[in-house]
Amino acid sequence: MEFKDIDDYKKRIKRILITEEEIRSAIAKAAKEIDASFDGRPILLVSILNGAFVFMADLCRAITVPCEIGFIAVKSYYDGTVSTGNVTITMDLDRDISKYHVIIVEDIIDSGRTLKEVVGMLRQRKPLSLSVVTLLDKPARREVEFEADKALFTIPSLFVIGYGLDCGEYYRNLPYIAEFDEES
Ligand code: IMP
Ligand code: MG
Repeated sequence: MEFKDIDDYKKRIKRILITEEEIRSAIAKAAKEIDASFDGRPILLVSILNGAFVFMADLCRAITVPCEIGFIAVKSYYDGTVSTGNVTITMDLDRDISKYHVIIVEDIIDSGRTLKEVVGMLRQRKPLSLSVVTLLDKPARREVEFEADKALFTIPSLFVIGYGLDCGEYYRNLPYIAEFDEES
């Protein structure tokens, strides 16, 4: 990704779709539900790097029951902003997950390919239970059948940035979710 200057960088943040406050209150609600359904059980939150790192950081701090955290990294191959459909695991968990209720923490579901792959892989390791919480869901873009157990926001087929989500590795540090301007 290349920008002419800082104005060009800023101009591509087209409009804010979801504010910090909206994110905060949705996370508080989701954390309460997780607290209630997994009370006292061994929970392992598994976040998919890089995109979900901000969501993971906020969600795990809103959860009050005991939980452990872990990370995996996947590479989805992209042609610009369009997924090519190939997914590989580039960093795996270092734990035996068979003793945990595993909750996968993802930033966004687009084609569904990433989660389908990750869920398939983790299920083979026989966790006590396996569920998926995603910050964002773009159901209209699905290419393979996949549904999260919990989606905090459903959004239209737009390319979004911020709160962990990138375009060409930029914009992950925006505190809100914005629409990316693909035109300019
Ligand atoms: P999927 O495998 O097509 O469901 O895509 C999942 C991954 O694609 C996400 O974890 C993101 O890293 C990336 N992605 C999908 N849509 C967007 C978007 O609108 N903005 C930024 N990244 C996205
Ligand atoms: Mg991601």
